[in-house]
Amino acid sequence: MATKFELSELIRTGHFIDGQWVASANGKRFDVTNPATGEVIATIADGGEADARAATDAAARAFPAWRDALPKERAAVLHRWHALMLENADALGHLISLEQGKPFAEGRGEVLYGASYVAWFADEATRIYGDLIPQQQRGKRMSAVKEPIGIVAAITPWNFPLAMIARKIAPALAAGCTVVGKPAEDTPLTALALVMLAHEAGVPPGVLNLIAASRESAVSAVAAWLHDSRVRKITFTGSTPVGKYLARESADTLKKLSLELGGNAPFIVFDDADLEAAVSGLLVSKFRNGGQTCVCPNRVYVQSSVYERFGDMLARRVAALKVAPATDPNAQIGPMINARAVEKIARHVDDAVSKGARVLAGGKRLTALGPNYYAPTVLADATGAMQLSCEETFGPVVPLFRFDDEAQAIHAANDTPFGLAAYFYSQDVRRIDRVARQLEAGIVGINEGALASEAAPFGGVKESGYGREGSKYGLDDYLSIKYLCQGGLE
Ligand code: SIN
Repeated sequence: MATKFELSELIRTGHFIDGQWVASANGKRFDVTNPATGEVIATIADGGEADARAATDAAARAFPAWRDALPKERAAVLHRWHALMLENADALGHLISLEQGKPFAEGRGEVLYGASYVAWFADEATRIYGDLIPQQQRGKRMSAVKEPIGIVAAITPWNFPLAMIARKIAPALAAGCTVVGKPAEDTPLTALALVMLAHEAGVPPGVLNLIAASRESAVSAVAAWLHDSRVRKITFTGSTPVGKYLARESADTLKKLSLELGGNAPFIVFDDADLEAAVSGLLVSKFRNGGQTCVCPNRVYVQSSVYERFGDMLARRVAALKVAPATDPNAQIGPMINARAVEKIARHVDDAVSKGARVLAGGKRLTALGPNYYAPTVLADATGAMQLSCEETFGPVVPLFRFDDEAQAIHAANDTPFGLAAYFYSQDVRRIDRVARQLEAGIVGINEGALASEAAPFGGVKESGYGREGSKYGLDDYLSIKYLCQGGLE
């Protein structure tokens, strides 16, 4: 059996339901395009309500056997899936670049990142412990056992087309849940390829089902899961408005939700920071995936006494970043995902400049490269009156805000409904302790810009959502606790 596939073999054009590749019930299809050129990569099945229901039917049939499989049997399947992901890392990396636009090195890096969650949860599958509760009454034994929650609907974004779905499917399968999923309409091909590898790895029919849907069809497909009481959990990464919609619409069937939603991350540079390290950390965190990452810094606060110096140092490094198609081996930033994304970036920059921001680097579209490119940009003299201070830009733009003292920086950093990630640079140990405690965020980078790890809990507070992915906590969201009280033991 071949285990290493060519890129063309990984491109699937149907839904994957009950172990079969199938067309949409209504025969509809939609185009997936390359954001670098606008060219069509593939035309694929466009799922609606009937396909979503068929996926749930399959997941319901498969659930009892998967739930009752031994944890080490589920772990073995996940380990095989992990091995296949690594074996096909180059082809998957190319596929990510093709439909999402990130440079190949980043695409391949995403494969390894996503695969690390699969290996992690394969191991965690064998460590789902319960408790024997200390005896309270003679003749009675009380215990707590953990059970898979049931069918999970996983709805994933376009910015990490492989890693986001891997880190939802892996814990679900490890826990003994079955899955119905829908990837973002911009990047369904990577998710379909991943599901193909899961099937090759031995995930039984019906345990993992995936339907693709265009922007127009997605609402009716997802509605079929939201209103179906057999679907016990929704796990979603994406925007806060969509997360709120899912919470509202699933309220009637009281599903468990994990919501990893929008961010508006602050990045604070205190005057006692190592400025070189702060610039490097900012480049890593801000320009990962061209700034299209929920944990990317969106607002950079720099203390007045180092403001101009920091701005100059940063602008020099940003101006040197290579913007190019993913196929260029030197590319550091590729195209944005689509025209809507570029329009939002341009709107934020234009609004900031019209309100007094100074352009230190970039500040324009790069139309000579293709339709969706925007230059990495640094803006000085940003203020709270600008759109980019309160909306997530989701692009390669760094606005620099000025502050005078610690209290002012913390107030500004927390002055947002969001609370996913926050970063700060300082060399003062007391300040590090104070600021880390006061920042309202689920994830805090301290003198560090690269936070992602399968071993760490990823998730937000406030309107950035709830639930955690990765780490020992990541499995709990897919389990429910059953209390067993056994009497008559005397
Ligand atoms: C995201 O943008 O939602 C995920 C980023 C990460 O895993 O670091």
